[in-house]
Amino acid sequence: MHLGRKTLSKFLIENISGSKDGAALAALLVDVAAAVKAIAAMSARGALDGASGSLDSTNVQGETQKPLDVLSNTAFVNTFEMGGLVAGVASEEMDDPFPVKAPHTRGPFLAIFDPLDGSSNIDGNVSVGSIFSILRANGTGEPGIEDYLQPGSKQVAAGYALYGPSTVMVLTVGNGTHGFTLDREVGNFILTHPHIQIPADTSEYAINTSNERFWEPPVTRYIDECKAGKTGPRERDFNMRWIASMVAEVHRILIRGGIFMYPRDTKDPTKPGRLRLMYEANPMSFLVEQAGGAASTGRERIMDVVPDKIHQRIPVILGSRHEVARVDHYHQQYDAGTDKPFDSPLFNERSLFRP
Ligand code: F6P
Ligand code: MN
Repeated sequence: MHLGRKTLSKFLIENISGSKDGAALAALLVDVAAAVKAIAAMSARGALDGASGSLDSTNVQGETQKPLDVLSNTAFVNTFEMGGLVAGVASEEMDDPFPVKAPHTRGPFLAIFDPLDGSSNIDGNVSVGSIFSILRANGTGEPGIEDYLQPGSKQVAAGYALYGPSTVMVLTVGNGTHGFTLDREVGNFILTHPHIQIPADTSEYAINTSNERFWEPPVTRYIDECKAGKTGPRERDFNMRWIASMVAEVHRILIRGGIFMYPRDTKDPTKPGRLRLMYEANPMSFLVEQAGGAASTGRERIMDVVPDKIHQRIPVILGSRHEVARVDHYHQQYDAGTDKPFDSPLFNERSLFRP
């Protein structure tokens, strides 16, 4: 029992119900939590209901869909459509946004989400998650594409659910980042991680090093320095993690610090990064910034980028703010053609630590 502990509903009533459309936003986040509970229950059943393996379909990104991708998408779409709190929804799993139409009621928000992030991990029983971003709709009409294309700084709420050993939901409405753990027996999300703070410094990085040959020089430089450890310019050893589930990776960073990078690379020149701006990078950036961290493309703040399409991809570098600043600095030096050491007179691009 969690007597005296705060439920998600109580937290929302206390924190946002007094602000503009606050009651509606609180109700919408309770709806998100309902969809999350349904997905947690489905994903916990693993292969029992035959929902394992892959479907023949691919999504707009060309990724093979899993049955749980589709079921999770439906859970969110149905919840939002029937909830009366959003004017439209956009999803990683749908080519185009979906306007709410009569007999359902349109509400003051737009919901953008990745229903099941990291779903290539499902069959391996590795953690997956859902990511969501809430924007204000422009009036009560049927929203057009341009209504969705707002920079991340305009988000009114964002969060994720992580379906791990426990199910957690982490969210922000712009007053800090807060984590809730699902009490499965009772069916309530309980505030277990109020005001999460990411340590400014870290010795842990996450990047898919199989892409190394496609990286830009500032990224190679940063990772080479981490790998050089005590014997390199950083003068301390680093540790590496790669789960291939962004939600699990960001959760670890919120809990104990770290830097996560899916940088621009030349693997596929038509894609300026792997992750999607509107339903992966923006909501995670909002959470990370609200927890005292930073989120950048290497060249600009992610939440300042004005999207030009719903499924736009973007380079992502986020986490402990001093490390993100260092990576940004390496990009600036590279773009300026300068070689200046970041903070060590021993290091420059043509030193011993460069190929
Ligand atoms: O949705 C994209 C995603 O699955 C993220 O969750 C994860 O961080 C990344 O892709 C994994 O990429 P890769 O397959 O290159 O390891
Ligand atoms: Mn994803």
